[in-house]
Parts: sequence; C-alpha cells; structure tokens
Amino acid sequence: MSATAQLPHRCWVEIDLAALERNFKLIRASLPPHIKFVAVVKADAYGHGLPQVATRLMHAGADLFAVATLAEATVLRELSGDWPVLLLSPVLPDEDRYLAEYDLATTVSSADEVQRFDAVGRAAGKPVAVHLKIDTGMGRLGVWHPEAGALYARIRAAQGVRLAGVFTHFSSADEDSAFTEKQRRVFLAALKSFPDFDPTGLFIHADNSAGLETTPGGSVFNAVRVGLLQFGILPHPHSMLARVKAEPVFSFHTRVGLVKKLPTGTGVSYGQTHVLKRDSTLAILTAGYGDGIARACSNRAEVLIHGRRCPVLGRVTMDQTIVDITDMAAKVRAGDPVVLVGRQAGGEITLPQFSDWSDSIPWETLCSVTKRVPRHYRTPLGI
Ligand SMILES: Cc1ncc(COP(=O)(O)O)c(C=O)c1O
Repeated sequence: MSATAQLPHRCWVEIDLAALERNFKLIRASLPPHIKFVAVVKADAYGHGLPQVATRLMHAGADLFAVATLAEATVLRELSGDWPVLLLSPVLPDEDRYLAEYDLATTVSSADEVQRFDAVGRAAGKPVAVHLKIDTGMGRLGVWHPEAGALYARIRAAQGVRLAGVFTHFSSADEDSAFTEKQRRVFLAALKSFPDFDPTGLFIHADNSAGLETTPGGSVFNAVRVGLLQFGILPHPHSMLARVKAEPVFSFHTRVGLVKKLPTGTGVSYGQTHVLKRDSTLAILTAGYGDGIARACSNRAEVLIHGRRCPVLGRVTMDQTIVDITDMAAKVRAGDPVVLVGRQAGGEITLPQFSDWSDSIPWETLCSVTKRVPRHYRTPLGI
C-alpha cells in the first residue's frame, strides 16, 4: 500500500460494486432473455474504475465489453485473455496491428477501415472481428445508411475480417422518441438492403440506456449497449426506466476543513460574488474544482452536512468550497464528513441534481472527478 493510501481522506468517491451487480441483474431481468448485455465501460467505466467494474460485471455475466480506446481494451485483456471486447471509437492506422495482438473486435464505418483490418487479419492468420456501424442520424461514426449494403458486401468478401455485429447509435433517445423510432426504421431498412443478409451469430444492437425505454419486442435486435443505467442513473428525470429500480453506484464525499464566523457585509471567495447578508458561520470544505466540483456550482450547489442541505457561497476554488452552516453552527466541527453526491442521515443529493448545478450531465460529471480523488470500493466486509 502506498503511503498516501493510509492518510485520512479529504475528498473521495465511494463505489458500491454490489449495487452495480444488482443493477446489472435488474436490467437483464427487465429485458427478454435472449437479449445480450454489452456493458459500456469506456472512460474508466464512467469514472467508476475500469478493472473493478469489469471484474464485477464478468462475475455477473456481461456478454461483451465496449470501450473507446486501445488502452482501455488492454486493461480488460489483463483481466481476461478472451472475454469479448468491442472498440467503439475509430482505430488509428498505427493501432491496427493491436487488434490481432489483443484479439479485439472493432467498429467499422468505411471501406478504408475494412481494407486495413483485412490486411491485419490476413497477416495474423486469424480474421479481425468487426461490428459494422450504420449512421442512421447520429452524424458521427458509422457508414451513412444508404451506403451500408455496399460496405456489408465488402466485409463479407474480405477474408481477413469476420463480421461479428451490426449496430447503430441514437442521437436523441433521451429527448426525442419519434426521431429514435425513425433511426430504428432506417436501421431495419438498411439491413433489408444487405445482399443475402445472414444475421446468424451476429450481435445486432442499438439501445443505449435511454433507448431501452422504446426497445421494440420481437425485432431483429438481440443486444443492448448499456452505460449509465448500470451505474444506477436514469438517462433523464422522467424516464420510465425508474421501474427497473437501479440504484446509484457512485457517491462523492469531502470533509469540513475549517469552521469560521464572518460578519454581515463580508464578501466570500474570489470576486466576492456573494456578500453575507447576516453574521454567518461558514464551513470551508476540503475539495474544489481540483477534485471535480465544477466552478459552475458557485453560489448554486448544496451539500449535506449531518444530513442537512447547506448552500455553497461564492465561487468554488481549486481546493476549497465554502458553505453556509449558520443555522446548524453548533453541530459542525472540522473533520466532519460532507456529502456532495449521495445520501447522509436521511438527506440525499442525486447525481443529476449535482450535474444540473454544474451545468453538466451525469455522464460528464462522472468523467470529471479528478485524478487526485481516490475511489473506495465498498465490499461486503467493509474492507
Ligand atoms: C456508441 C455508444 N453506445 C452506447 C453508449 C452508452 O450510453 P448510455 O451511457 O447512455 O447507456 C455510449 C455512451 O456514450 C456510446 O457512445
């Protein structure tokens, strides 16, 4: 154990891996039994810690892991030599050879990529697995849908690549169900245009978390690609996925570093954007934007101390954030725990709420907790 690991904690994240596994099982149970689970664990498993999350999801039985980068894929390869892994982001030409070396499936959007991966597969004597991505209206990766049939034919003809899946990605599943429906129709029409399309053994997938709200029954889709919901966060506040009853895996904590009184009329923090309207007691917290409390939280966010909400006063700074504890001054001491996201003594601040205060979205918030913040993994024995 490193020396810093033994020091008291000033700001930390708690990850509840048992909740992650329960969420996985709840999502699975909410879907027809033949649907495969592609666990999206890119960006360090949305900041939850890739090796820890993937290990638990392997134990739970995830069918396939989706990551963005080769470096993330190598972390998975350290855990398992053969668990199926899909790269979602474009592979750079000088990364091509690692597809064979690490036995990774990758996304294909263009004829140039097919040609490159075909060469890698031929040289390795084992075809590279590819998932053909169709752009049905996301306007990012994928072959534009009218051209998908031609690319499918190229893949089928190339001996150095093996088609393992076909997929698309929704641009607005959390806010525009009509457009999502349109993307599904465009995808199905593209599949129909494929010469001699044979879906046997292929992953056919589209749904991210929000897509699960409108997954059609009895269709060609046989896999889902879930990120946020497995971490217990709904893709939007009114999501019908609340019925799944997934619980948050992530909580965010800091402590009171100093309690101090200041008189009416004093400006608080950089730029004096808050001026005290009464004689006040303030708690100076041992975390700031250097830890992942966005500066947008200045004069907006609240935190929990002894279960009570305390408002942030003035600007969030790099290492400290200042909150008003005037109404509970007698109770608060230096060292007391503070919850930024999570539950405490009957109070709760949700991740979506914290993200709103940060002018952000839960996906980004989870990726914004900085490197100096340790992740603590709750285990059944509490160790
Ligand atoms: C291609 C792709 N599929 C699936 C997901 C998972 O989305 P969500 O976290 O909303 O479930 C993402 C997330 O960014 C993605 O980029």
